[in-house]
Amino acid sequence: MRIKPEQLRSHRWFGNQDLRSFGHRSRTKQMGYSDEDFVGKPVIGVINTWSDLATCHSHFRERAEEVKRGVWQAGGFPVELPAMAVTETYMKPSPLMYRNFLAMETEELIRSQPIDGVVLMGGCDKTTPGLLMGAITMNLPCIYLPAGPMLRGNWNGKILGSGTDVWKYWSEKRAGNITDCDWMEMEEGIARSPGHCMTMGTASTMTAIAETLGLTLPGASSIPAVDASHARMASNCGRRIVEMVWEDLKPRDILTADSFDNAITADMAIGGSTNAIIHLVALAGRASIKLDLPHFDQISQRTPMIANLRPSGEFLMEDFYYAGGLRALLKQIASLLKLDCRTVSGKTLGENIESARLTNPDVIRSLEDPVGSSGGTAVLFGNLAPNGAVMKPTAAEPRLLKHTGPAVVFKDYNHLVKRIDDENLDVNQDSVLVLQNGGPLGGPGMPEWGMLPIPKKLLRQGVRDMVRISDARMSGTSYGACILHVSPESYIGGPLAFVRDGDLIEVDVVNRRLDLRVSDEELSSRRASWTPPKPHYERGFGALFSAHVTQAELGCDFDFLQAGSEISEPEIH
Ligand code: FES
Repeated sequence: MRIKPEQLRSHRWFGNQDLRSFGHRSRTKQMGYSDEDFVGKPVIGVINTWSDLATCHSHFRERAEEVKRGVWQAGGFPVELPAMAVTETYMKPSPLMYRNFLAMETEELIRSQPIDGVVLMGGCDKTTPGLLMGAITMNLPCIYLPAGPMLRGNWNGKILGSGTDVWKYWSEKRAGNITDCDWMEMEEGIARSPGHCMTMGTASTMTAIAETLGLTLPGASSIPAVDASHARMASNCGRRIVEMVWEDLKPRDILTADSFDNAITADMAIGGSTNAIIHLVALAGRASIKLDLPHFDQISQRTPMIANLRPSGEFLMEDFYYAGGLRALLKQIASLLKLDCRTVSGKTLGENIESARLTNPDVIRSLEDPVGSSGGTAVLFGNLAPNGAVMKPTAAEPRLLKHTGPAVVFKDYNHLVKRIDDENLDVNQDSVLVLQNGGPLGGPGMPEWGMLPIPKKLLRQGVRDMVRISDARMSGTSYGACILHVSPESYIGGPLAFVRDGDLIEVDVVNRRLDLRVSDEELSSRRASWTPPKPHYERGFGALFSAHVTQAELGCDFDFLQAGSEISEPEIH
């Protein structure tokens, strides 16, 4: 089916002979365009999350031009729309707070203006879910253009991975094993080019998920940001989105329960970031699909992890691209996927990966010779996490996957900073470090504090991993026996709020349990004497966030943004 020019959404703005259409056309002409440039053509919004502080997107000014080149070639009319660059590096208190802001902005940018289809440009962690959440809600034809990973880091001939090697060498510096000079040299070499983090962190995970869901062109998520193929991919997106408008192929024609199962399967096979669970639940919610934590765990248990990428493995995204990229990985796990799902290419997922070639079986393993026999994420339940918690067992020391130890409790992040390196802290390698007030409301915004630092005195003894529990998140580039997203969070009176120093905590990953060995009576009495903390915000976006954000297992979306009754198109008066 092909729609006619008078069926274009933008026709309502440009196609009539009335007062308002006069204004819309004359103001387009104000920019130097002629009727030949835009009349009767699909208007393509190029939503660009470029900013001077979005270091992962520093190539997006050129890429936007390359997208536009493709749009012009295919007979569309491109318009660039800047959107908030939700950047992982600088935004405080936590960029997750602003994911929903970007989702709202994307939705309203599209709704309020004469747009027929969009190319979404993102990549740094929260930009992928933020842009897609808004676009899925608006349900106009869209293609996601991932920023692509940066090149491998380098320090004195050693390869450095974003985040992962920062945490590793920071511990070595605190243990006194590397010098200030070494540390400064790493600062120069760890981020060598435009592009997002090049470990299998949240950015690489979410762009792989976008591709598996069918929302990028085939292969788009693996191309390094500075590779010439990336520029060509940008103009391919521009050409294809114009066709998608004529075909009226929309995100909710593509997204189904099966495509989300494919995305979760890919997430487990790549050893993806624990953050992906939150974002996938939120994305599915926008498409009226309900995902619960046990479903993630079922898929995890049947999906071997086959990507040998840091933090769970050895290599980086540049190696992954040369090894065949996501298409080759998906082909390796094809027997676990529903291959008939539609994608933005107009073809099925199966057709998109048919010609993929694997060139390095060390980087992308097989189902018979995986890096880990089950998926990268485990979901735990128990009296400490009645609504669930997650961890990445593949990135933890195996001895800690079944462990009981006494709690050392920090009531918030400032308390942690003050106490963690105190030589008199009563802590040993079997202790369980607990951080409270790091959740969606408590953080606020679930900051990535969940990889709690190992106390300095234990680092000096050679300890490099311990069980750590919080209602915060951790960076997808982090590693260790870190149990995260504990729900309900402590700030609203979840059981985590009532843990005290010395309480025994039991972790059993095989049986997916997380329990506090304190009697129900004692917990009830602690609950009765608990005083809720004061709200963080009384006005502004923070107050809106606090009033409407949902808990981790519900995706941290705003309750009023989840799929519900449709909002009608604006009247044009
Ligand atoms: Fe942008 Fe890591 S800081 S992806």
